[in-house]
Amino acid sequence: MRTIWWEDGTVKMIDQRQLPHEVVIAEFTDHREVARSITEMYIRGAPAIGAAAGFAMALAALESTATTREGLLNDLEAAAETVRAARPTAANLFWAVDRMLGVAHRGTLTDADAVREALVAEAQALADEDVEISKRMGANGATLINDGDTILHHCNTGALATVDWGTALGVIRMAHEQGKRIHVLVDETRPRLQGARLTAWELQQYGIPYDIISDNAAGYFLRTGQAHKVFFGADRVAANGDVANKIGTYMLSLAARDNGVPAYAVVPTSTIDLSLPDGGHIPIEERSPDEVLDLQRQGRPLAPAGASARNPAFDVTPHRLVTAIVTENGVVRPPFGPGLQAVVAAAR
Ligand code: MRU
Repeated sequence: MRTIWWEDGTVKMIDQRQLPHEVVIAEFTDHREVARSITEMYIRGAPAIGAAAGFAMALAALESTATTREGLLNDLEAAAETVRAARPTAANLFWAVDRMLGVAHRGTLTDADAVREALVAEAQALADEDVEISKRMGANGATLINDGDTILHHCNTGALATVDWGTALGVIRMAHEQGKRIHVLVDETRPRLQGARLTAWELQQYGIPYDIISDNAAGYFLRTGQAHKVFFGADRVAANGDVANKIGTYMLSLAARDNGVPAYAVVPTSTIDLSLPDGGHIPIEERSPDEVLDLQRQGRPLAPAGASARNPAFDVTPHRLVTAIVTENGVVRPPFGPGLQAVVAAAR
């Protein structure tokens, strides 16, 4: 089963809010509902969000009652605004919407139905390519993993964060399938617990041994030599190699550097945003304080009534703390600028 797929004009996705307890499939036929599913994190993880955005644009094309090409293009531009507003940080969301609009505006598509057909095909192609790209990242990244490694991993970067397979967790899975013995220390990843809920669920299915650790135990494991490598994904990478990823990645990378442990980011080129010179320009989503105060999301907050909280969902790790950036087009090492340009150019 993929994380998200298209079936007879309907977008289907695993509702990740229900995992690991239940596998519930959500179904949508309206692009606004798909945008809401991204905001509310039915689906999350940068490449999965990109695929959802692609399918949302295909739905918008089918929903539109426009009979002319121009009318449909107007409706698609409006839908694009709705989809772009779903979440601010993951570059893949904007990349996918732009890719879909680029197809819609092709001069060779002269009537509305031709545009509709092309958009459905493009969304499907984008999702299929995501799987193939994940496997290439996996193969490139697995060269960095040795037999016997213990790997510290942050957030969820597996099949659930992509259409299938994964970014950083895809690398770990590939190394495991190559026969390397690996142990994973799974950061629980507060406040949404993507590590404890989703990464542990995936690792169990792959038969990869792991232990969940609280996020603030990571420094202990790095300091005592019990973690040999750190792997994480990214939501956006700036032109200089600064990496925006799930909140806590910065502290993890600092602790890794202080202890001489390599820290690897694994990203498809669709996550690299060469228009931003550095990570200071990456928009950081701040989500509801309720996610921090009511960790179990059961309406029974941990904190005293009336407590306030802050909830930045991402942070930026400066490129000086990143050992290498693994992409589907190769492993980029510092200085990152020229290498990132080359892997993005190779993707065009
Ligand atoms: O808030 P989320 O769960 O969408 O955040 C996801 C992450 O930060 C992942 O680590 C990131 O998307 C890269 S892996 C696909």
